[in-house]
Amino acid sequence: MEEQISQVRKDYLNKISGANSLKELDDIFLDLFGKSGEITLLPKEFSKLSPEEKQKIGPLFNQVKTELESAVEKKRGEVREAGYAKLSGEQSSIGEAVDIKPRKGRLHPITKLEQETIELFGKLGFQQVDAPHIDSDKLNFELLNIPEGHPARDLWDTFYLDPVNLGPQSGKMLLRTHTSNAQIRAMKELKTPIRVMNIGRCFRYENLDARHEHTFDQFELIYIDKHVNMTNLQFLSEYFLKSIFGLDIKVRMIPKYYPFVEPGAAVEGECIFCKGKGCKVCGKGWLELTGAGMIHPTVLKNGGIDPNVYSGIAWGFGIYRIALLKYGVPDVRLFNSGNLNFLENFS
Ligand code: PHE
Repeated sequence: MEEQISQVRKDYLNKISGANSLKELDDIFLDLFGKSGEITLLPKEFSKLSPEEKQKIGPLFNQVKTELESAVEKKRGEVREAGYAKLSGEQSSIGEAVDIKPRKGRLHPITKLEQETIELFGKLGFQQVDAPHIDSDKLNFELLNIPEGHPARDLWDTFYLDPVNLGPQSGKMLLRTHTSNAQIRAMKELKTPIRVMNIGRCFRYENLDARHEHTFDQFELIYIDKHVNMTNLQFLSEYFLKSIFGLDIKVRMIPKYYPFVEPGAAVEGECIFCKGKGCKVCGKGWLELTGAGMIHPTVLKNGGIDPNVYSGIAWGFGIYRIALLKYGVPDVRLFNSGNLNFLENFS
């Protein structure tokens, strides 16, 4: 019996020290201590022993049992450590072998264009103002001379908010369709002469195509003073578009109706894709870059400004449209696509 125990001890210490994986050690453990493991079965034979032998064998058995248990445990620790060491070695060799370029962040092309625009008008004394994305029907439409039910509202279909969520006195609320929602605010909050710019997100319930997005940015310019007129509008439009596109840009101004200006105009740039012939991007050869005009006397009055003393001009530049022409991008939807292959073209 004594010999048998010593043999088990010797065999298994060998096996344990030769094991290379946790799986091997689990198997060894089961062979020893499982239901029909060597160590589990040994005591069954103790009944055959004389009392003297039992006294000798008992402590030996216990000692070997503990020794084997702790040998398996110790080896488990070593195998784990060796695994970790191997892993960390592999990591550093991957790092050395593959040239992992740190990814450089950059500004979105629209953000860059906006910053350029803000700088251009900042130089002329235009101050930046803000207006909310979620606004009242009053400030987005009514006070801009577009009453409820007016057919001109069809030009600006938008997303209306569920009135249940808006609290008691909010009235009808919507996602602003243009940055013109800054106009009445600026008139009421600032003193004349007023020279402000408002830039930011606008939303429309649109049929999407290469030049229409449901979410886009506009750049509003508002200039109110004594004797402001269409010549100022023409000069500032040219100043802006020539600064952005270079002196060769072909720009034209055509009459256009907006209820909050009189006279109203659209400033259009010649399409760089078809050179004025008409294509999928522009439709008719020219791309509308901004709506503009002399601020309607009713709107000035709504803003608390006397139209007999002051006059004003305003623009609503479509920054995405300008970006289409500036960067030669054939589809406006690419800008918000989050497509890195596209965005990485802009350094
Ligand atoms: N708000 C108009 C639009 O979104 C553009 C515009 C602004 C027109 C200011 C005239 C004056 O289409």
